[in-house]
Amino acid sequence: MQRIYLDHNATTPPLPAVIDRMIQVLRDDFGNPSSVHHFGQQAKSAIDEARTDVANLVGAEPSEILFTSGGTEADNIAIRGAAEALETTGKRHLIATAIEHEAVLNTLKALARRGWRTTLLSVDQSGIASPAALRDALTDDTAVVSIMHANNEIGTIQPIAELARVAHECGALFHTDAVQSAGKIPTSVKALGIDMLSMSAHKFYGPKGVGALWIRRGLRVLPLLTGGRQERSRRAGTENVAGIVGMGVAARMAAAKMVEEGRRLASLRDRLETGILRAVPGTAVNGSPEARVPNTTNISFDRIEAESLLIALDLEGIAVSTGSACSSGTLEPSHVLKAMGFNAHRTQNSIRFSLGAANTEAEIDRVIAVLPGIVEKLRSLTRTPARA
Ligand SMILES: Cc1ncc(COP(=O)(O)O)c(C=O)c1O
Repeated sequence: MQRIYLDHNATTPPLPAVIDRMIQVLRDDFGNPSSVHHFGQQAKSAIDEARTDVANLVGAEPSEILFTSGGTEADNIAIRGAAEALETTGKRHLIATAIEHEAVLNTLKALARRGWRTTLLSVDQSGIASPAALRDALTDDTAVVSIMHANNEIGTIQPIAELARVAHECGALFHTDAVQSAGKIPTSVKALGIDMLSMSAHKFYGPKGVGALWIRRGLRVLPLLTGGRQERSRRAGTENVAGIVGMGVAARMAAAKMVEEGRRLASLRDRLETGILRAVPGTAVNGSPEARVPNTTNISFDRIEAESLLIALDLEGIAVSTGSACSSGTLEPSHVLKAMGFNAHRTQNSIRFSLGAANTEAEIDRVIAVLPGIVEKLRSLTRTPARA
């Protein structure tokens, strides 16, 4: 069976160049980067090269990049580390949006259990957070505002530069989870005017289990892991050299073809979206059609249970998602669509299609061809009345 992978926001396949370089590092550059001898220095220079490539991807200085075990750890260090560094100043308040990834939402919950006040901002029906709402939520004791750059379920892009300006006016730090934007759309820490930014390699054709946090030079962030002096004492533990090097190669390749590939993906995504909306009655796109990453569309199918559609598509060899990978497999409504104000049915009838490098027009056309029949069959099996 010809399989079609349309779940690139969950993860992307590592590029051949990434795999080749990682194998070479595992085999040849196996030294401990902290060792003074040749083997150690070889591994260290491989990390330094990757640090420069990852920094270039977001317009940062290499010394400001801290390698982590992924986007989740980067989010944790940013929020916990910055919050804890500010504890002595009496600040005890954190703000995020209600549509953040669990890596942010559950970090805020954990800090709430330790006495921090937290505010979750709602978003409008197109999935965008409002700078005015942020201004209202900020107080003198707000330590950190964490708002994602692009959303993993619907792909919407937040007005980060404006939101960061508002946070700074009230003396709060600003972190953005750029796991779904770095490598997909041009992202510059300077243009965004932020303090911290999280990335994850496996979302842009690098390996899983490695990510990075950009921390603005001079900003104090306490480490989560204590131990050796790796990563300028901000993240102890012998470095994941092969993973870091893989991330570096992926970052370099993403930077080189981002704009052109973005255009290609947007055109494929639009073909898919228009095709589905035309061919399947009772469908609607979730999220802003303008402010979004080029590879993502999230579509509601009236009178359909998203999990059933996902399984039926999988049987046809088409891999999609009902939202974030962490919540699939359960019938949990999407917290993102819920925060956008959609009713219970619409939070459970939506499918995320996230496109990537290997997808072709022929694949998109196959999806458009098989989908109407599958949806019709599922609808004929259910008696769920149509809802708005
Ligand atoms: C927006 C966002 N933040 C954070 C993460 C977590 O990244 P990682 O899988 O590298 O821990 C993900 C992964 O799905 C994500 O989409």
